[in-house]
Amino acid sequence: MASTAKSASARSSARSGRSRRTGRRDPLAITLLKQDHREVEGWFDEYEQLEAEGDKLALFQKIALALKVHTRLEEEIFYPEERGDVEEDMLDEAYVEHDGAKKLIAEIEAMRPGDEFYDAKVKVLGEYIKHHVKEEEQPGGIFPQAKKGGEDLDAMGERIKARKAELMAEMTPAKAN
Ligand SMILES: [Fe+2]
Ligand SMILES: [Fe+2]
Repeated sequence: MASTAKSASARSSARSGRSRRTGRRDPLAITLLKQDHREVEGWFDEYEQLEAEGDKLALFQKIALALKVHTRLEEEIFYPEERGDVEEDMLDEAYVEHDGAKKLIAEIEAMRPGDEFYDAKVKVLGEYIKHHVKEEEQPGGIFPQAKKGGEDLDAMGERIKARKAELMAEMTPAKAN
């Protein structure tokens, strides 16, 4: 019970962009990346409740798009600009974890809900992402190290926001009608 309450408060503090420890606002880049994390975590939880194959496919497509855009934002902007501020090994591992996630996403995209292991692969992807997000957000992780570094993370946040809008437009599959 106590741990549930704690994680709920951690979640809501991340959503509001306030760190529990300092009470200070996160800089914009961190706030935006954490918002993406919370959104996709929510969708993985939602997926567990679904029964209909059409609903599963629609939600997985939303998850896949969000993860593709988010990993591009980190790989194009956040990770390269944090080289020097964040431990090299941690950044290298983050790229490798992104690649692992992309491979799993591609495997799921080649399948249909109802296929053997479809749900299991979505579940494992969710666990994999949760692990990766922890490496980014936990004390001593990539985000806390970035916050201590020299980059202007509010200015970077503006660039992340603009690039996200471009990527969403570019990568959203055209609706056939
Ligand atoms: Fe990442
Ligand atoms: Fe991330």
